[in-house]
Amino acid sequence: MRNLSFKPRNALLLLVACISLQACNSQPSHQVQSGHCPQDRTTELAPAVIASLNNPLQTSTKNIDAGRELYQSTAKPLACAECHGEDGDGNGPMAGMFEPAPRNFTCNDIVATLPEGQFFWIIKYGSIGTSMPAFDKLSDKEIWQLTMYLRSFQPNSTNIKQTSL
Ligand code: HEC
Repeated sequence: MRNLSFKPRNALLLLVACISLQACNSQPSHQVQSGHCPQDRTTELAPAVIASLNNPLQTSTKNIDAGRELYQSTAKPLACAECHGEDGDGNGPMAGMFEPAPRNFTCNDIVATLPEGQFFWIIKYGSIGTSMPAFDKLSDKEIWQLTMYLRSFQPNSTNIKQTSL
């Protein structure tokens, strides 16, 4: 078992390999696609019965504002904006740390293809194999408010405007 003995030189070689492979977290690799449009997508699809659910809440400023509050600051374990960005562009302060990168909600090419129930499911249960956490302390109502707010990042989103008032 000689190989297991600690040698400073081995540690140094490991560090060099780790940096050149960009595998170290301390060296965020910016081929990570934060903010790209379109960007790769790792998240699995929700079961069909869930994906096809519509947002049961009335579209209203009140619901969107509640979603904004959660997204920008109060959601636990971590406000969505930390990763998905204040403007929903996938470029939050922590975004560069993650591979795959957080979803860019301003990118119609991707988000326009994702149904309401998909957002709901992933917010509630998280996305396995990615850094997207489960927000299982939020009520269903809060999750639908978040879903409604996320849609407002989409350019030309009719989703929000058509039913408001
Ligand atoms: C720690 C970073 C992080 C935080 C905090 C975070 N997300 Fe994510 N989110 C991600 C990553 C990474 C993905 C996966 C991207 C992929 O599939 O390639 C993701 C995916 C998603 C998706 C899935 C979209 C799809 O492609 O199906 C939704 C919806 C989402 N996030 C909403 C939220 C909301 C709402 C919050 C706050 C309540 C939040 N996220 C907080 C990192 C984060």
